[in-house]
Amino acid sequence: MLRIDGLVCGYGGSQVLRGLDLQIAAGESVALLGRNGMGKTTLLRAIMGLLPAKAGKLWFDDRRIDGTKTEAIAKAGLAFVPQGREIFPDLTVAENLQLGAMGRRGLGAGIPQEIFQRFPILAERLKQKGGTLSGGQQQQLAIGRALAGQPKMLLLDEPSDGLQPSIVTEVGRAMRREVEEQGLTLITVEQNVALALAIAERCLFIENGILVAETSSAALRADDSLIHRYLAI
Ligand SMILES: Nc1ncnc2c1ncn2[C@@H]1O[C@H](COP(=O)(O)OP(=O)(O)OP(=O)(O)O)[C@@H](O)[C@H]1O
Ligand SMILES: [Mg+2]
Repeated sequence: MLRIDGLVCGYGGSQVLRGLDLQIAAGESVALLGRNGMGKTTLLRAIMGLLPAKAGKLWFDDRRIDGTKTEAIAKAGLAFVPQGREIFPDLTVAENLQLGAMGRRGLGAGIPQEIFQRFPILAERLKQKGGTLSGGQQQQLAIGRALAGQPKMLLLDEPSDGLQPSIVTEVGRAMRREVEEQGLTLITVEQNVALALAIAERCLFIENGILVAETSSAALRADDSLIHRYLAI
């Protein structure tokens, strides 16, 4: 579903991604792990077309998407929940979800009801302004808004950031169900290895802008040496 060949990308003169290759099949859930500053967010932004590729090719669903505008990439079925959960604070929960639905599926698109099964709290807070929700609820709204567009593939940047453990577990369970029941293809960037393992069946390690290792989540549970090698400070 997603294929990246030799992606080079950075800011100004500096290269962050240095010839990165990646392939993800439809329906797969993959975690992207790596230390701070290694290029995880840069990779997600490059996939979404928010940062131009300096070299390399990207395909989504057999279509070239490098050089394509973010809006067209979103229409093709890719959604992104950035770190820090950008919701519209002055709009209600219902309006935030509605905008997510219309953004990809056009005017008149309704909010898919599965979202309220994933995140029941959103159904209880429909009329409340987004900005008045707790951090955990805002994260659920940010993910819910992306899912409201019914994307084929979702990119999640550190969903556990700043959340209390009970909410992290809830978000992990919701994402796992989205993959298993809706067939969502997912890339999750995470520092929280337990959450990454709960969501993904394959883990990729990034260091200095290239993928340096990959393993199944089951293998990583049994042997955490890759975590010490690529994540320990
Ligand atoms: N807007 C920017 N302008 C210039 N340099 C940037 C910008 N954003 C990120 N960088 C640099 O690019 C490198 C990779 O950053 P990136 O945000 O992709 O890392 P990350 O793996 O997501 O890290 P973290 O775990 O801290 O989120 C870092 O050295 C960072 O300082
Ligand atoms: Mg980041």
